Amino acid sequence: MLKLAPSILSADFSKLLEDVRKVEEAGCDLLHIDVMDGHFVPNITIGPLIAQSLKGKTNMPFDVHLMIENPDQYIPEFVKAGADIISVHSEACTHLHRTIQLIKQHGAKACVALNPATPLSVLEYVLEDLDMVLLMTVNPGFGGQKFIEATLQKIEALKKMIDDRGLSIDIQVDGGIKPDNIDLVTKAGANVIVAGSAIFNSDDIPKTVELMRKNATI
Ligand code: DX5
Ligand code: ZN
Repeated sequence: MLKLAPSILSADFSKLLEDVRKVEEAGCDLLHIDVMDGHFVPNITIGPLIAQSLKGKTNMPFDVHLMIENPDQYIPEFVKAGADIISVHSEACTHLHRTIQLIKQHGAKACVALNPATPLSVLEYVLEDLDMVLLMTVNPGFGGQKFIEATLQKIEALKKMIDDRGLSIDIQVDGGIKPDNIDLVTKAGANVIVAGSAIFNSDDIPKTVELMRKNATI
């Protein structure tokens, strides 16, 4: 099933709740919350306080993308703040299996995120434990970057890996996705689509969301 996950990184933080309601009213499925620590990625964004302040004010599940070092330290806090799905970067986890179990023990859905240059082989022995895999289609750190075409083959390969094992795991893509390239990523096998600038910077959010659904091949 296609799920659209607008990233609040491109929202107007001076009127965050208003922006969140706009994407919810436009029919978006998940709220993508980008957490950056200035170490794992060069940018700093938001912490659990912001997620907590939005909880109960929207019905969209919180899809928390942790672009931070030592994610284990913050997982319990983000679950308390309302995270329904937590993504950790394989590149930031020394004990990836342990971190995945920690997310699940706290009652959230577990997702592993991979940077564009990270091979799928890191998923080999943990795939069965996951609810979702997040393939970055830009290098993480900023909104509004250009989609990296080489990731299309990676999406296809992941889809095959999941199907070959008879699993049902969501494939999320994040970075540079717009109405005019959503068909490429959905055709390759992605079904959870993050879009920050394409949605929040649009003059007509409902129209853009509708166009993204129309152009998706699923
Ligand atoms: C990038 C973030 C993305 C970003 C996407 O590091 O993880 O979620 O906000 O923004 P766009 O859709 O503008 O590339
Ligand atoms: Zn993200």
